[in-house]
Amino acid sequence: MFTSELLSENPDSATVERNVADNAKLMVREAIIENLDIQTKTFVIVDMGCSVGPNTFFAMQNVVQAIKHKYHSTCSQIEFHVFFNDHVTNDFNVLFESLFSDHQKTYFAAAIPGSFYGRLFPSRSIHVAYSCYALQWLSRVPKGLIDKTNKGRIHYDGASIDVWNAYVDQFEKDMEVFLSARANEMVHGGLIVLVLPSIPSEQHSKIGYRILTFVESSLIDMVNEVSQLITLIILSLF
Ligand SMILES: C[S@@+](CC[C@H](N)C(=O)[O-])C[C@H]1O[C@@H](n2cnc3c(N)ncnc32)[C@H](O)[C@@H]1O
Repeated sequence: MFTSELLSENPDSATVERNVADNAKLMVREAIIENLDIQTKTFVIVDMGCSVGPNTFFAMQNVVQAIKHKYHSTCSQIEFHVFFNDHVTNDFNVLFESLFSDHQKTYFAAAIPGSFYGRLFPSRSIHVAYSCYALQWLSRVPKGLIDKTNKGRIHYDGASIDVWNAYVDQFEKDMEVFLSARANEMVHGGLIVLVLPSIPSEQHSKIGYRILTFVESSLIDMVNEVSQLITLIILSLF
């Protein structure tokens, strides 16, 4: 599988995402040119799950250039408003500090903090909604995992079919919430572009997400260190 091979070969996740976005670049451009069906002088674009850059800058520039290319003969004075969305805890200061120092200002920019698993914008206000490598993050630990055995794990690779199904259920619920929020926010004739890692369903038991195994063992080490520290503090109190 293309994405899992990339993940296995290169643990630098920002590079993985950059490679994925680069591979999708032409498809995104073609999708905009062929499918976007809007008449306006101000295009409103959002990158959902933008992180702090720089990948989001290249992605938004690609979207802006594709729209300019599509409409250059019919409308010479198009303006762009790009919203950068991520969790409220995302470091938007880092994003905006580097945004216009490294890149030519071809659009107006603003942050829209909050979860994309819910409404972010007023009805019928977005022309292009884009998200790359973010929708694989679920909104919560799958409910079904509470009574399934996946203790000490952070994902389903190598787990039982019950664990896999619990993740699938949560993903389906999250996607429904995501899509119904976007259904309200999108302008008629607009475009949603979603780039996310995927695997064939028959490969669920061994997908080889080595990067997640590294993250998992680091988290467990941290938890163990903290619990040892707490024990030491408690012992030193007596
Ligand atoms: C792997 S990064 C991808 C960043 C960027 N799109 C890229 O391609 O390099 C995933 C980002 O999605 C964000 N994210 C995850 N769940 C989210 C949610 N429910 N709402 C908004 N952002 C979310 C994370 O905070 C993180 O910054």
